[in-house]
Amino acid sequence: MKVVVTKSYDESCAYVADMICKLVNEKPNCKLGLATGGTPVPMYKKLIEANKAGKVDFAQVRTVNLDEYCGIPETHDQSYRYFMNTNLFDHIDIDKANTYVPNGMAEDVDAECAAYDERIQEFGGIDLQLLGIGHDGHIGFNEPADHFSCGTNCVELTDMTIDANARFFANRDDVPRQALTMGMQAIMQAKAVLMVVSGADKAEIIRKSFCGPITPEVPASILQLHPNVTLVGDEAALAGLKEEGLV
Ligand code: PGA
Repeated sequence: MKVVVTKSYDESCAYVADMICKLVNEKPNCKLGLATGGTPVPMYKKLIEANKAGKVDFAQVRTVNLDEYCGIPETHDQSYRYFMNTNLFDHIDIDKANTYVPNGMAEDVDAECAAYDERIQEFGGIDLQLLGIGHDGHIGFNEPADHFSCGTNCVELTDMTIDANARFFANRDDVPRQALTMGMQAIMQAKAVLMVVSGADKAEIIRKSFCGPITPEVPASILQLHPNVTLVGDEAALAGLKEEGLV
């Protein structure tokens, strides 16, 4: 694993945006796995700036997002499709037909999950998967469990995740209780994984994920088995790794 310690969140976002631009310039038809949440928002702004400045061209890029809430339509301002459109896709030269987010309104959830995995396989897998991490160690919405998920699946969100995401909704009760998430198979098959973290509140879960046992109780710990992970974070978020002597 490569660990990149930055002086600030902004520097982390710049580093990650540069990595993505480099990949897209080297492989214009690459497949990007994208993430939502608060952490990547400034990074997406940097991608938009780079695109507008003519430094990167997304015309041939295809994207696949990690997850989507169940039960809210894509027009809902908290759906992850809406998030991706407003934070990135509406502002760059990507063909939206080449951007995929699971359909959280699908009537046949199993068919939707299977179709999502088939699409990723048709792509030939993901070249670079961007990840955040939840305070409970989730990646995508793969929550702590007694086993690792395999394919795209429907999950019950934990109280910790509902609490964390309540800040985006008018009321905690409005936060959906279920979500569709890419499973560990597609994440682990990505050619490269790029995790971005910020802030002291993530330090303990980062320590557990990368220095503790590999266990589905800490879903991100599976990344210890991935051959090409880059973890980018500020000093506060990576303080636990420093204590363990990993950086
Ligand atoms: P955050 O979410 O970036 O809003 O902290 C990360 C996640 O839940 O994966």
